[in-house]
Amino acid sequence: MFVHKEQLEYQLAPADYSSDAAHRAELEHLLLPAWHPLALTDDFPTDGSFRTYELLGQPVLMRRDGGVIRAYLNVCSHRHCLLTEVPHGHSETLACQYHGWEYAPNGRVSRVPDGGCFRPFDRENARLRTFEVETCGSLVFVRLRPGGDGLRATLGADFDRIDRGFARPYACNWTYDRQFDCNWKIPVENTVETYHLPWIHPQTLGGFGLIPEEAQKHYLRDRSTTLVYELDTASEPVRTQRRVVRWLGGPATHDHYIHLHVFPNLVFTFTDLFIYAQVYLPVTPTQSRTLAWMFSLDGTRRNPFARVIARLAARHGARSNEAIQREDASVFAAQQRGLAASPFRGCIGTREERIWCFHDHIRRACGRSPGT
Ligand code: FES
Ligand SMILES: [Fe+2]
Repeated sequence: MFVHKEQLEYQLAPADYSSDAAHRAELEHLLLPAWHPLALTDDFPTDGSFRTYELLGQPVLMRRDGGVIRAYLNVCSHRHCLLTEVPHGHSETLACQYHGWEYAPNGRVSRVPDGGCFRPFDRENARLRTFEVETCGSLVFVRLRPGGDGLRATLGADFDRIDRGFARPYACNWTYDRQFDCNWKIPVENTVETYHLPWIHPQTLGGFGLIPEEAQKHYLRDRSTTLVYELDTASEPVRTQRRVVRWLGGPATHDHYIHLHVFPNLVFTFTDLFIYAQVYLPVTPTQSRTLAWMFSLDGTRRNPFARVIARLAARHGARSNEAIQREDASVFAAQQRGLAASPFRGCIGTREERIWCFHDHIRRACGRSPGT
């Protein structure tokens, strides 16, 4: 059931989807202080494994050392070069590509070739800048601005579900990394409403029309919203899912689809067979990027039949998710173009009330008046 009984007003103005001022305010108040999943622990298999990213306009280098994954601003304190531009790899030392300065895991300069040229050397001010890193299950989160709640408090009561879900007996079988020609809020809004299913996903998700209100429940909180959809246990897809979970020796079935939006930009989806995490990041006011990971039930059984079933299920999940993401992305640029020319305030139906909560969170965090 929906919480609201009447349609809701837009709390953001069309300009909030393209202006530099809105972009800067959202970075400042919402995104720089937030935790963003960038990788999986398995992406750093040994000490020396590293990856590089662009996160909210900052070059970030993540590297494992002593079994600990750390994150740095990927800028050398000598003459400002990126330490490395290689997307991922392995290095014996944390060193700069230009003149070979080396850094200890805590960011302190450990070796300067021909160091005598730099006398007297200010070692403390030459430290690499570091960022906070925390994990939940296999997901590795980075926060660019220190302070505020840790990851557990940010994810609240959902931390344990995420921690359990992105770990054995589930395994990562699909990753996704795409740029969109639209403001980052457009794909977030898309993912928190089911209203579009019959029109955008007629084959993949919309075959049964709009989900009846009585089959779903919205939970609206200060920092997150959740949709819990009771699956029709008599339907063939749900019966198949139950069988597959049993064959793989998975946890007890719940026959629910749970979609969680943690403000501002994190989305998690839970079913008995598949679990997804997705983050939406602004690149410019009108460009965004998403990263996503799908874990599918790998199960506890090791017999050949279970192995084949697990592989088939993973392939099916990856294909459907790829198609659904493509279908959703087909309207993003059109909505961005429409916003730029819109004379309307827009309106939000009760079915879309999770968007209203998202807007309310942004409005409060950025100190905006409704609709301005
Ligand atoms: S810029 Fe990094 S060692 Fe010179
Ligand atoms: Fe969709």
